[in-house]
Amino acid sequence: MQDRYVIGNWKMNGCKGDLVKLAQMSHLARKSRLPDVTVVVCPPATMLWSAAGMVGIHLGAQDASEHEAGPHTGEISAAILADLGVTYCIVGHSERRESVGETSEVVSRKADALINAGIRPVICVGEPLEQRRLGSAVDYVSAMAEASLPTESGACLLAYEPVWAIGSGETATCDQIGEIHEVLHQLAGPNVPLLYGGSVNADNAASLSQIDNVHGFLVGNASLDPYRFLGVAEAYRSSAVPRHEEGGATGAR
Ligand code: PGA
Repeated sequence: MQDRYVIGNWKMNGCKGDLVKLAQMSHLARKSRLPDVTVVVCPPATMLWSAAGMVGIHLGAQDASEHEAGPHTGEISAAILADLGVTYCIVGHSERRESVGETSEVVSRKADALINAGIRPVICVGEPLEQRRLGSAVDYVSAMAEASLPTESGACLLAYEPVWAIGSGETATCDQIGEIHEVLHQLAGPNVPLLYGGSVNADNAASLSQIDNVHGFLVGNASLDPYRFLGVAEAYRSSAVPRHEEGGATGAR
């Protein structure tokens, strides 16, 4: 059975005083002993040093430079992140694709740099509302995923996040997610875990986890609260393993 992932993206939220939330998450994750669920938290880069070494949660970053080192003011390299104990890093989030014009080619190079430093990239892909309305979401997302994958694609995770579902309170439907995840599964192969993101919370996670080829979640808003965030991970305890994955019948490994 493919491992499960619940990854929290704190975005631009988190000051010193919020370290206590990370400690709470660490405590809750240890206490709940969720089998096969890898809990990752991606706070702002400024909190990574203080959060290093917390037990029960893996440390993630929200971005990394495509460059190894040198004259890149304001950038943080994969090697610097690895030095802090970071083991996962989001790349290509739609907010960065939109706000700083990050292209899929840049995302792919960033993913390569992360893998070289021993960090697993979490590559985000997703269609804007316009493409969904035009009926071209599948083509749009698969082209974006293909161009964003690193050379060693088996080392990454892919997160499908429809842009219109992020922070809107409206998740994609099970059919929409299932259709895209099937395409991503064919494209990336059976070793790449596929996450869904976009208004996931403790209430909808159990039903979303039943969709074929959904191996976890990338969670924004609900990850800011330790109880709500761990509630998403708990969905895997309360929900049965999807039928197609019983007895190792799935291609997802
Ligand atoms: P959301 O954000 O859960 O608040 O919709 C998800 C994301 O942007 O990764």
